[in-house]
Formats: sequence, C-alpha cells, structure tokens
Amino acid sequence: MSTTGVGLQEVRAAYQRIQGWIHRTPVFTNEGLNNLSGRKLFFKAENLQKTGAFKARGACNAVFLEKEKNPKSPGVVTHSSGNHGQAVAYAAKCAGLPCSVVVPKGTPKVKCDAIVNYGAELVFCEPSPAARKEVCAQIAEATGKAIIHPFDNYNVMAGQGTIALELLEEVPDLDAILVPISGGGMTSGIAVATHGLNPDCRVYAVEPFGKELQRSLENKKRMWDNPPRFLETIADAIRTQQVREAGN
Ligand SMILES: Cc1ncc(COP(=O)(O)O)c(C=O)c1O
Repeated sequence: MSTTGVGLQEVRAAYQRIQGWIHRTPVFTNEGLNNLSGRKLFFKAENLQKTGAFKARGACNAVFLEKEKNPKSPGVVTHSSGNHGQAVAYAAKCAGLPCSVVVPKGTPKVKCDAIVNYGAELVFCEPSPAARKEVCAQIAEATGKAIIHPFDNYNVMAGQGTIALELLEEVPDLDAILVPISGGGMTSGIAVATHGLNPDCRVYAVEPFGKELQRSLENKKRMWDNPPRFLETIADAIRTQQVREAGN
C-alpha cells in the first residue's frame, strides 16, 4: 500500500494534483432509459477520459506523487490487462519518468499500441494473475522502478475518487452511484469521496457473474478460486475475480 489511507481529503488533494492532466468528463442523461428504468439516470462518460478510461485519474495521482517523493526516481512499473497500463504509461510520460507495463498475452492490440505510443516498455506475460504479478515484481527488483498497482494502492484509489467529486458537484442529490468493480480501486475512491460529500448517497459495486463479492457475502467469508482465475465476461477490463489481492 502506498500511503496510510484514503479519505475525502486525499481525494481533494488528488484532484488539485491531476486536474491539469485529465478531462472533466461530461454527464449525460437519456429520456428513453429513464422511462425504461423508472429512474432519473446520469452517466459519467469516463470513456471520454484521457487514455480512454477513468484510470488516467488514479495513475496520474500515483505517478505524480512518486515523482514528488523521489525526483530522481528510476521510473514506474505496473501490470494491467490494458486500461491501467495505458494510464500509467500516459502519466509517466507527463511526469517525464521511464515506465514498463506488463500485460497478459492476448491483450487487445489497440491497448498494446497505445502503451507503446506513450513511450512505455511493453512486457508480455502468461495470462494469469500470478504471472503478471511475478513479472512486475521482477522488473521492480531489477530496475528499482516503483510498482503502481492497478487498484491496491491508496494513491490510485484517491485519484479514482475524483470521479465522485465531479459527479456530485454536477448532480449533488444523487440517491445512488453504481460502479463497475474489478479490483475495487474505483469503488473505494468513489465510496470514500461520496461518504464525505453526501452520506445519504449509496454506492453499489456492480460485478460480472462469477466474481467473489456476491458469493463471499452469501457465505460470510471471502470466496475465491485457488489459484485465482480471470472471469469469462465480455467486459474485458473487469475480469479479475478478487477485489484486492488473493491470498494477501
Ligand atoms: C473500463 C473499466 N471499468 C471498470 C474497471 C474496474 O476498476 P477497479 O479495478 O478499480 O475496480 C476497470 C479496471 O480495469 C476498467 O478498466
């Protein structure tokens, strides 16, 4: 873990730090979907974010903090099936730091090309959570680069929480925010920011079928496969079965 925790204060500080490097994404509404759902829905279009995903927020916060902490840093390294990898590559380029990104074989070419185009070194590994973690650790050990974990990092969480700052500024009286969850970094950041800004607003984590959360809640203990596996889902960015790390 990076710092000692994350709360609204860290999310606000993250926003100050990254604001000039990310987009304030638009919030869309849709009458048809409102009618279908019987709710008033708002969509925060993070697909229009720098690098194509909200991940630019957390990556910028964590990488810029690494540079602040260690101006002579040898750089950063991460493992990611794509979106976080692109985001760290982008953040490292903005910060002027060398970067390596470990991706599982089979990662869509468009994501690999983006990582390379941001100037990062691309390293392929076997498509398993254990393999990518191991290769990332080896690079960190050999080069001294700081590991920017995709979600198990308070600075990343604080950056992702800036989504809620913008959303609640625009729509302050939301009843609930639905967040697609993989490792849980975005959900954590949004949850702490939302709790601080509007404690009446509920935050729901939305998971693909086969993920551990539902099973764990039903069984009142954490339920994951050992060794952990990637989920079969068309949502290729959220295939991680566990929130946080398995076995830690
Ligand atoms: C597009 C997209 N949505 C949602 C998520 C889930 O984010 P987290 O791992 O922080 O839960 C990811 C993570 O890679 C993603 O890329």
